[in-house]
Amino acid sequence: MILVTGGAGFIGANFVLDWLKEQNEPIVNLDKLTYAGNLASLAVLADDPRHIFIQGDIADGELITSLLKQYQPRAIVHFAAESHVDRSIHGPEAFLQTNIIGTFQLLQAARQHYAALTGDAAARFRFLHVSTDEVYGSLAPDAPAFTEQHPYEPNSPYSASKAASDHLVRAWHHTYGLPVLTTNCSNNYGPFQFPEKLIPLMIHRAVNGEGLPVYGDGKNVRDWLYVGDHCAAIRRVLEKGILGETYNIGGRAEMRNIDVVHLLCDLLDEQKPKKQGGSYREQIQFVTDRPGHDRRYAIDSSRIDSELDWKPSQTFATGLRKTVQWYLDNESWVDNVTSGAYRQWTKLNYQARKDV
Ligand code: NAD
Ligand code: DAU
Repeated sequence: MILVTGGAGFIGANFVLDWLKEQNEPIVNLDKLTYAGNLASLAVLADDPRHIFIQGDIADGELITSLLKQYQPRAIVHFAAESHVDRSIHGPEAFLQTNIIGTFQLLQAARQHYAALTGDAAARFRFLHVSTDEVYGSLAPDAPAFTEQHPYEPNSPYSASKAASDHLVRAWHHTYGLPVLTTNCSNNYGPFQFPEKLIPLMIHRAVNGEGLPVYGDGKNVRDWLYVGDHCAAIRRVLEKGILGETYNIGGRAEMRNIDVVHLLCDLLDEQKPKKQGGSYREQIQFVTDRPGHDRRYAIDSSRIDSELDWKPSQTFATGLRKTVQWYLDNESWVDNVTSGAYRQWTKLNYQARKDV
């Protein structure tokens, strides 16, 4: 049995689905079900006794303590977070509350739980903290990719809150001996990603005939990883990672945003041609930049490759094609998660730039 936090979100849901397929080991899934958490992503597990879903907050220490006592998980895999940079600019408080205080409460409960374990149960216990490459800050165009030794220079409220959580995890290992592992991953894409992030947002807006808002000059670079490859990397780190160490995970797929949007438009032109003819590229609009927009991220994943024998299985071309097809085949999931407050958010976000 393992305890996963944030398992109804994008990466968490992919992880839960992959885990039950690959490991056949039960999961307790604790998720607050914010706007970003959707049980629709886990619908295939509705009658699966291996998946125990608990709606709750990671900042609720008593709840965590009681779950650890009841289920005695051999590991905690911590995904739960506020994850969207634009939202952190509009409203940073929730990011501090969940990403910092929430992680603190989780660490405290895990520490007490671990202290009571003995023998094999103590030796096997792990706390795996899922983090981001954004903690390292922004890279110059020709600078080498981030290694695990790169200094922390977070620039957004989101990345600052994730950096704080990474430091707490490190401190709970050094001070209290909690058996922790940390992963820092680059931009993920794939099924079940909420359509506020670049790739699903562009697909959703393109097929709805809306403008495709590219921030600034579109030349910011991100390093893309297919979500299934991230899930496989986390499983590997959980089983083979050295306690107290951090592992960078990336897809070796650096791309400028404008090139990503062009590729998406070309795939959509092929997979869902516009009824009225023409290309989705015609919907692209350059809009006011994100404040403090990091120019480039790139991950050096040679450590996890050489020490834990992990490599991504998808290239950006294969992963993106699968992803576009998934969104076209799963319009009901998109409709489900974009009902309600979604429209208000996109209006607020894009009014701050230019009405698209
Ligand atoms: P997401 O926003 O899609 O999902 C977050 C999940 O956490 C949601 O299900 C939400 O309901 C839940 N949650 C939020 N606050 C909570 C709270 N207080 N208590 C319990 N549950 C809560 O995020 P994601 O993109 O799946 O990211 C998951 C993790 O991976 C995050 O920690 C993020 O920082 C990290 N990460 C994401 C990426 C990426 O590209 N998406 C890359 C690297 C690292
Ligand atoms: O690097 C890992 C991080 O990747 C994760 O830690 C975050 O949780 C995740 O959200 C992601 O952060 P980004 O800010 O890089 O992702 P986003 O999809 O919001 O933006 C990707 C790039 O696209 C970024 O340079 C901003 C740009 N962009 C984004 C949106 C939403 C646009 O040009 N237009 C848009 O409408």
